[in-house]
Amino acid sequence: MALRMDVITLFPEAFDSVLASSIVGRALREGRVEVVLTNLRDFAGDARGTVDDKPFGGGPGMVLLCEPVFRAVEHVRGLDGRPAAVVLLTPQGERLTQARVRDLAARERLILVCGHYEGFDERIRTLADLEVSIGDYVLTGGELPAMVIIDAATRLLPGVLGAEDGAHDESFGEGLAAGGLEYPQYTRPREFRGMAVPDVLLSGNHAEIARWRAEQAKARTRRRRGDLLGPPGPGET
Ligand code: 6GU
Repeated sequence: MALRMDVITLFPEAFDSVLASSIVGRALREGRVEVVLTNLRDFAGDARGTVDDKPFGGGPGMVLLCEPVFRAVEHVRGLDGRPAAVVLLTPQGERLTQARVRDLAARERLILVCGHYEGFDERIRTLADLEVSIGDYVLTGGELPAMVIIDAATRLLPGVLGAEDGAHDESFGEGLAAGGLEYPQYTRPREFRGMAVPDVLLSGNHAEIARWRAEQAKARTRRRRGDLLGPPGPGET
C-alpha cells in the first residue's frame, strides 16, 4: 500500500505548489503516495480559532497550545487504521539526512506536525516519535520542512522515478556516488562559449568514462564536503 503522509498545519494552501509539481503530482495521481492536509485551526477550542498563547514566565512570541495539537493528532491518527509515526518539525530536531529520508519513506504512515510561532508547548513533544530539522537556520514554520520530507520521501517510492531519472547514482543517493557528491554532467553542445566538454565523455570508452566519473565525484566530495568522507588516504589531499 502507498505511503500515506498526513500534514497538520495552519497553512494547508502552502502545500499546493509541491503537490502539483511534476514528480510528486504524478505520484499522487498514480496512487503511489497519499498526502492529506489537516488545518490545525479546525481543532481550536474556541470559535475564534485560537491555537496559541503567551508563554508562562513571559518572553517574546506565542506558543502553540497543547489542546488543538493533541486533538488534531488524535483525529488524524484515527483516519486510517495503519500505525503512524508522528514527526514534529522543529529547528531543535535531528538534522534530516538521506538515511532518515529512506527510513521515513519505508513506513506506512507519517503524521507531519508543523510548528509555528516561538515554538510548541513542551508537552506536545510527548506525541512525537521523532523531531526533525532540515538544517541549522531558522524558518518561520514547519511547512517548508514538511514539504522537503514529502518531496524527498516520494521520489524514493517504488515506480515514482523512471529508470531514466534514477534515484541510484545521484549525490547522497544509492550506488556509485553513495555517501558523496555527484560527478560533473554535460550535454549539447560540445563547446559552449569556449568551454569544452571533457574529451573522455566523447570517447565512447565506457570503462574509462566510469573511472573518470568516480575520480571526479571523489575529488569534488573531498574538496566541497570532506565531512562525508574519511580522513585522506596516502597520496590524497
Ligand atoms: Cl523543522 N522548523 C523551523 N521553524 N525552522 C527550521 C526547521 C524546522 N528546520 C530548519 N529550520
